[in-house]
Amino acid sequence: MKPKVLLNSAMTVDGKIATKTGSSEISGHGDLLRVHRLRKEVDAIMVGINTVMADDPRLTVHKISSKPEDNPVRVVVDSKARTPLNFRIINSEAPTIIAVSTEAPLERIKLLESTENVEIVVCGDKQVDLNCLMERLGEKGIKTLMLEGGSTLNYSMLHEGLVSEVNLCIAPMIAGGTHSKTLVDGDGVDYMKDAFRLKFKKSYTLGEDLIVCYDVL
Ligand SMILES: NC(=O)c1ccc[n+]([C@@H]2O[C@H](COP(=O)([O-])OP(=O)(O)OC[C@H]3O[C@@H](n4cnc5c(N)ncnc54)[C@H](OP(=O)(O)O)[C@@H]3O)[C@@H](O)[C@H]2O)c1
Repeated sequence: MKPKVLLNSAMTVDGKIATKTGSSEISGHGDLLRVHRLRKEVDAIMVGINTVMADDPRLTVHKISSKPEDNPVRVVVDSKARTPLNFRIINSEAPTIIAVSTEAPLERIKLLESTENVEIVVCGDKQVDLNCLMERLGEKGIKTLMLEGGSTLNYSMLHEGLVSEVNLCIAPMIAGGTHSKTLVDGDGVDYMKDAFRLKFKKSYTLGEDLIVCYDVL
Protein backbone atom coordinates (compact mmCIF):
# COMPACT_ATOMS: atom_id res chain seq x y z
CA MET A 1 0.00 0.00 0.00
CA LYS A 2 1.21 3.53 -0.80
CA PRO A 3 2.21 5.69 2.19
CA LYS A 4 -0.06 8.41 3.49
CA VAL A 5 1.63 11.68 2.46
CA LEU A 6 1.63 14.94 4.41
CA LEU A 7 2.96 17.93 2.48
CA ASN A 8 4.57 20.29 4.99
CA SER A 9 5.99 23.66 4.03
CA ALA A 10 6.89 27.05 5.43
CA MET A 11 5.95 30.01 3.27
CA THR A 12 5.67 33.78 3.31
CA VAL A 13 2.28 35.49 3.16
CA ASP A 14 2.76 35.72 -0.63
CA GLY A 15 3.34 31.98 -0.89
CA LYS A 16 7.12 31.99 -1.38
CA ILE A 17 9.12 29.10 0.03
CA ALA A 18 12.52 30.45 -1.09
CA THR A 19 13.89 33.60 -2.73
CA LYS A 20 15.59 33.61 -6.11
CA THR A 21 18.95 33.23 -4.33
CA GLY A 22 17.68 30.08 -2.57
CA SER A 23 17.35 31.70 0.85
CA SER A 24 14.59 29.83 2.72
CA GLU A 25 14.82 30.66 6.44
CA ILE A 26 11.11 31.24 6.99
CA SER A 27 9.93 29.25 10.04
CA GLY A 28 10.17 30.66 13.53
CA HIS A 29 11.58 28.56 16.39
CA GLY A 30 8.19 27.10 17.33
CA ASP A 31 7.56 25.87 13.81
CA LEU A 32 10.99 24.27 13.56
CA LEU A 33 10.18 22.31 16.73
CA ARG A 34 6.76 21.31 15.26
CA VAL A 35 8.46 20.02 12.09
CA HIS A 36 10.97 17.98 14.08
CA ARG A 37 8.17 16.49 16.17
CA LEU A 38 6.46 15.51 12.91
CA ARG A 39 9.69 14.02 11.57
CA LYS A 40 9.84 11.86 14.69
CA GLU A 41 6.33 10.54 13.96
CA VAL A 42 6.63 9.66 10.27
CA ASP A 43 8.36 6.70 8.63
CA ALA A 44 10.00 8.77 5.86
CA ILE A 45 10.76 12.33 4.70
CA MET A 46 11.00 13.13 1.00
CA VAL A 47 12.56 16.03 -0.94
CA GLY A 48 13.49 16.84 -4.54
CA ILE A 49 17.11 16.98 -5.68
CA ASN A 50 17.03 20.78 -6.12
CA THR A 51 16.23 21.16 -2.42
CA VAL A 52 19.21 18.95 -1.58
CA MET A 53 21.44 21.06 -3.84
CA ALA A 54 20.16 24.38 -2.45
CA ASP A 55 20.03 23.59 1.28
CA ASP A 56 22.26 20.54 1.93
CA PRO A 57 19.65 19.40 4.52
CA ARG A 58 20.24 16.66 7.10
CA LEU A 59 16.54 15.77 7.30
CA THR A 60 16.99 14.24 10.74
CA VAL A 61 15.31 14.83 14.09
CA HIS A 62 17.83 17.08 15.82
CA LYS A 63 15.99 20.11 17.20
CA ILE A 64 14.17 18.10 19.88
CA SER A 65 15.30 15.34 22.18
CA SER A 66 15.62 12.16 20.12
CA LYS A 67 17.39 8.83 19.68
CA PRO A 68 19.08 7.73 16.42
CA GLU A 69 16.20 5.32 15.76
CA ASP A 70 13.76 8.27 15.76
CA ASN A 71 15.17 9.41 12.42
CA PRO A 72 12.86 8.59 9.52
CA VAL A 73 14.14 7.17 6.24
CA ARG A 74 15.23 10.00 3.95
CA VAL A 75 14.03 9.86 0.35
CA VAL A 76 15.54 12.00 -2.45
CA VAL A 77 13.80 12.23 -5.84
CA ASP A 78 16.80 12.47 -8.15
CA SER A 79 16.30 11.11 -11.71
CA LYS A 80 19.93 11.40 -12.74
CA ALA A 81 21.55 10.33 -9.44
CA ARG A 82 23.15 13.77 -9.00
CA THR A 83 23.15 13.68 -5.17
CA PRO A 84 26.69 14.75 -4.18
CA LEU A 85 28.61 12.18 -2.13
CA ASN A 86 29.72 14.76 0.43
CA PHE A 87 26.22 16.10 1.18
CA ARG A 88 24.62 15.56 4.59
CA ILE A 89 21.56 13.77 3.18
CA ILE A 90 23.68 10.62 2.82
CA ASN A 91 25.56 10.88 6.12
CA SER A 92 25.44 8.03 8.63
CA GLU A 93 22.67 9.56 10.77
CA ALA A 94 19.83 7.76 8.95
CA PRO A 95 19.17 5.50 5.97
CA THR A 96 18.60 7.24 2.62
CA ILE A 97 16.70 6.04 -0.43
CA ILE A 98 17.65 7.79 -3.67
CA ALA A 99 14.92 7.40 -6.27
CA VAL A 100 16.34 7.57 -9.79
CA SER A 101 15.05 6.90 -13.30
CA THR A 102 16.59 4.69 -15.98
CA GLU A 103 18.41 7.85 -17.21
CA ALA A 104 20.72 7.79 -14.18
CA PRO A 105 24.31 6.96 -15.18
CA LEU A 106 25.36 3.52 -13.88
CA GLU A 107 28.65 4.84 -12.49
CA ARG A 108 26.77 7.43 -10.37
CA ILE A 109 24.45 4.71 -9.07
CA LYS A 110 27.42 2.52 -8.14
CA LEU A 111 29.18 5.41 -6.38
CA LEU A 112 26.09 6.26 -4.34
CA GLU A 113 25.42 2.60 -3.52
CA SER A 114 28.99 2.22 -2.27
CA THR A 115 28.20 4.57 0.62
CA GLU A 116 27.01 2.87 3.78
CA ASN A 117 23.44 4.14 4.10
CA VAL A 118 22.21 4.56 0.56
CA GLU A 119 19.71 2.40 -1.26
CA ILE A 120 18.84 3.14 -4.90
CA VAL A 121 15.30 2.63 -6.19
CA VAL A 122 14.75 2.86 -9.96
CA CYS A 123 11.30 4.10 -11.04
CA GLY A 124 10.47 5.70 -14.38
CA ASP A 125 12.22 6.39 -17.67
CA LYS A 126 12.88 10.13 -17.66
CA GLN A 127 11.82 11.67 -14.39
CA VAL A 128 11.07 9.57 -11.36
CA ASP A 129 7.66 7.87 -11.65
CA LEU A 130 6.16 8.96 -8.33
CA ASN A 131 3.35 6.37 -8.32
CA CYS A 132 5.93 3.61 -8.76
CA LEU A 133 8.07 5.16 -6.02
CA MET A 134 5.16 5.32 -3.56
CA GLU A 135 4.35 1.64 -4.28
CA ARG A 136 7.97 0.67 -3.67
CA LEU A 137 8.15 2.67 -0.43
CA GLY A 138 4.93 1.00 0.71
CA GLU A 139 6.47 -2.43 0.03
CA LYS A 140 9.37 -1.41 2.28
CA GLY A 141 6.95 -0.83 5.16
CA ILE A 142 6.78 2.97 4.88
CA LYS A 143 3.24 3.88 5.91
CA THR A 144 3.61 7.62 6.52
CA LEU A 145 5.73 10.12 4.61
CA MET A 146 6.30 13.83 5.06
CA LEU A 147 6.93 15.70 1.80
CA GLU A 148 9.24 18.65 2.49
CA GLY A 149 9.39 20.18 -1.01
CA GLY A 150 10.47 21.95 -3.05
CA SER A 151 7.93 23.56 -5.33
CA THR A 152 8.41 21.28 -8.34
CA LEU A 153 8.09 18.04 -6.40
CA ASN A 154 5.15 19.45 -4.41
CA TYR A 155 3.31 20.10 -7.68
CA SER A 156 4.04 16.66 -9.15
CA MET A 157 2.92 14.88 -5.98
CA LEU A 158 -0.34 16.87 -5.88
CA HIS A 159 -0.85 16.36 -9.62
CA GLU A 160 -0.50 12.59 -9.20
CA GLY A 161 -3.06 12.64 -6.38
CA LEU A 162 -0.50 11.30 -3.91
CA VAL A 163 -0.88 13.93 -1.15
CA SER A 164 -3.59 13.52 1.48
CA GLU A 165 -2.77 16.33 3.92
CA VAL A 166 -1.18 19.80 3.71
CA ASN A 167 0.33 21.63 6.69
CA LEU A 168 1.48 25.19 6.12
CA CYS A 169 3.47 27.54 8.30
CA ILE A 170 2.70 31.07 7.14
CA ALA A 171 5.32 33.49 8.40
CA PRO A 172 4.58 37.23 8.63
CA MET A 173 6.84 38.14 5.70
CA ILE A 174 6.36 39.13 2.08
CA ALA A 175 9.24 38.28 -0.26
CA GLY A 176 7.96 39.04 -3.77
CA GLY A 177 9.96 38.10 -6.83
CA THR A 178 8.85 36.43 -10.06
CA HIS A 179 11.77 34.02 -9.81
CA SER A 180 11.21 33.11 -6.16
CA LYS A 181 9.93 29.58 -5.47
CA THR A 182 6.30 29.30 -4.46
CA LEU A 183 4.64 26.53 -2.46
CA VAL A 184 3.75 24.76 -5.71
CA ASP A 185 5.31 25.52 -9.10
CA GLY A 186 5.18 23.32 -12.19
CA ASP A 187 2.61 23.71 -14.96
CA GLY A 188 -0.30 24.61 -12.70
CA VAL A 189 -3.94 24.33 -13.73
CA ASP A 190 -5.49 26.44 -16.50
CA TYR A 191 -8.73 27.20 -14.65
CA MET A 192 -9.47 27.67 -10.95
CA LYS A 193 -12.26 25.09 -11.25
CA ASP A 194 -9.45 22.53 -11.77
CA ALA A 195 -7.41 23.64 -8.71
CA PHE A 196 -6.52 20.99 -6.14
CA ARG A 197 -9.22 21.30 -3.48
CA LEU A 198 -8.48 21.32 0.24
CA LYS A 199 -10.68 21.01 3.31
CA PHE A 200 -9.71 23.18 6.27
CA LYS A 201 -8.95 21.17 9.42
CA LYS A 202 -7.45 23.55 11.96
CA SER A 203 -5.26 26.59 12.49
CA TYR A 204 -3.27 27.99 15.37
CA THR A 205 -0.41 30.39 16.03
CA LEU A 206 3.12 29.44 17.01
CA GLY A 207 4.90 32.64 18.05
CA GLU A 208 4.39 34.98 15.08
CA ASP A 209 3.70 32.14 12.61
CA LEU A 210 0.27 30.86 11.59
CA ILE A 211 -0.06 27.09 11.17
CA VAL A 212 -2.88 25.94 8.89
CA CYS A 213 -3.76 22.28 8.33
CA TYR A 214 -5.88 20.89 5.49
CA ASP A 215 -7.02 17.57 4.07
CA VAL A 216 -6.68 17.17 0.30
CA LEU A 217 -10.04 16.29 -1.22
N1 LIG B 1 10.28 26.77 2.75
C1 LIG B 1 10.21 25.48 2.70
O1 LIG B 1 9.46 24.85 3.48
C2 LIG B 1 11.01 24.72 1.67
C3 LIG B 1 11.03 23.33 1.72
C4 LIG B 1 11.74 22.64 0.73
C5 LIG B 1 12.43 23.33 -0.26
N2 LIG B 1 12.41 24.68 -0.27
C6 LIG B 1 13.14 25.41 -1.33
O2 LIG B 1 12.66 24.95 -2.61
C7 LIG B 1 13.71 25.16 -3.56
C8 LIG B 1 13.81 23.95 -4.47
O3 LIG B 1 12.58 23.74 -5.14
P1 LIG B 1 12.56 23.28 -6.68
O4 LIG B 1 11.17 23.39 -7.16
O5 LIG B 1 13.61 24.03 -7.42
O6 LIG B 1 13.05 21.78 -6.66
P2 LIG B 1 12.64 20.40 -5.93
O7 LIG B 1 11.16 20.23 -5.96
O8 LIG B 1 13.36 20.31 -4.65
O9 LIG B 1 13.31 19.32 -6.92
C9 LIG B 1 12.80 19.20 -8.23
C10 LIG B 1 13.64 18.24 -9.02
O10 LIG B 1 13.34 16.88 -8.62
C11 LIG B 1 13.60 16.05 -9.72
N3 LIG B 1 12.47 15.17 -10.03
C12 LIG B 1 12.61 13.89 -10.47
N4 LIG B 1 11.43 13.35 -10.73
C13 LIG B 1 10.50 14.29 -10.46
C14 LIG B 1 9.09 14.31 -10.59
N5 LIG B 1 8.39 13.24 -10.99
N6 LIG B 1 8.44 15.45 -10.28
C15 LIG B 1 9.12 16.53 -9.84
N7 LIG B 1 10.46 16.57 -9.70
C16 LIG B 1 11.15 15.46 -10.02
C17 LIG B 1 13.86 16.93 -10.94
O11 LIG B 1 15.28 17.01 -11.15
P3 LIG B 1 16.00 15.84 -12.02
O12 LIG B 1 15.31 15.85 -13.36
O13 LIG B 1 17.41 16.20 -12.06
O14 LIG B 1 15.73 14.57 -11.28
C18 LIG B 1 13.33 18.27 -10.50
O15 LIG B 1 13.94 19.36 -11.15
C19 LIG B 1 14.98 25.41 -2.77
O16 LIG B 1 15.35 26.76 -2.91
C20 LIG B 1 14.62 25.12 -1.34
O17 LIG B 1 15.27 25.95 -0.41
C21 LIG B 1 11.73 25.40 0.67
